[in-house]
Amino acid sequence: MNEPLKKTRVIDDISLAAAALNEGLLVAFPTETVYGLGVDATNPAAVARLFAAKGRPSDNPLIVHLADFDQWPKAASEISESAGRLMRAFSPGPITVVTRKNPKIVDAVTAGLSSVGIRIPNHQLAQSLLKECGLPIAAPSANVSGRPSCTTWQSVLEDMNGRIDFVLKGDICRIGIESTVVDCSCSPPRLLRAGAITREQILEHIPDLISWQAQDPDDLIPSPGLRHPHYQPRAVVVLVQSLYELTALPSDDLRHAAYAGVVSPMADRLLETFPQLSRLMMHARFATIEIYMREFYEFLREADRKGAQRIFLQLAPDSGLGSALRDRQTRAAG
Ligand code: TXA
Ligand code: MG
Repeated sequence: MNEPLKKTRVIDDISLAAAALNEGLLVAFPTETVYGLGVDATNPAAVARLFAAKGRPSDNPLIVHLADFDQWPKAASEISESAGRLMRAFSPGPITVVTRKNPKIVDAVTAGLSSVGIRIPNHQLAQSLLKECGLPIAAPSANVSGRPSCTTWQSVLEDMNGRIDFVLKGDICRIGIESTVVDCSCSPPRLLRAGAITREQILEHIPDLISWQAQDPDDLIPSPGLRHPHYQPRAVVVLVQSLYELTALPSDDLRHAAYAGVVSPMADRLLETFPQLSRLMMHARFATIEIYMREFYEFLREADRKGAQRIFLQLAPDSGLGSALRDRQTRAAG
């Protein structure tokens, strides 16, 4: 079962993908956030193979995906009041709620925890696949563990060719970063991972929401994923406030560097005043935070493909959607 495969097939046949999941095979598929790597969450051998394919540490639990909210008993044994409120408000959509696990879900999926994260993706192909296979599907992001997530099927293949069975082909993911994760198994509920459903939006439904923060290193970590490196390209990532911070760099450094930020009149003026900035090997300025977010992981991957030594990222503001992007930027910088 653990032997490497010869070839991964890129397909657009949903019935074939659903049948493969029922046979315990590994199928990557698009969602509105990032591509997921799906497996039957009730099949222990298949789940073990998924952890191996990703190189995922066994203490980092997976999210279980369902076609609609009525299916929650397939993954959970109970839906807390807060979990129900968030699911009704934001599902299908880019949110994961952590609640009490159903024993039918393999223990390895939840890394031995008694809780499970559940999510209903808002994406037509993902929905059809989940409906047709009829299973609770455990699906981490479809990248090699530690690398930037994948928002295109080509990037999935770049990381996973020969390690998984199928890639269900879709367009570039609309949102571009992973779902918001809220632990609703405790009171008050805790925000474990920022995402496109913002803290401000959640507070409208759960006014006592708190953020998880380590008080001391011995604290039990509620989202074990936070312990491991994430989203890191091979190039060194440097966070900057603006393009101005690059103007002091020698031309040779610029030639091997990439920059991503947002459009601004100040950036336009800097480019006029410091012509050496045009030496950057990659230079992207996005019109909005939404677009920056959608293009973010692919930018990191493209910089790696081009052999960039350093990637300079203009930090997103710490509010609204910006908080989610800023979290990924900070973790990409290690
Ligand atoms: O948007 C997404 O959520 C994507 C798509 C494919 O749905 N999936 C995704 O999965 O980002 P992954 O495995 O890359 O991240 C799952 C996160 C981790 O930070 C993990 O620690 C947390 O969810 N998580 C999962 N189950 C949990 C649980 N029972 N308790 C606490 N945290 C949990
Ligand atoms: Mg991931």
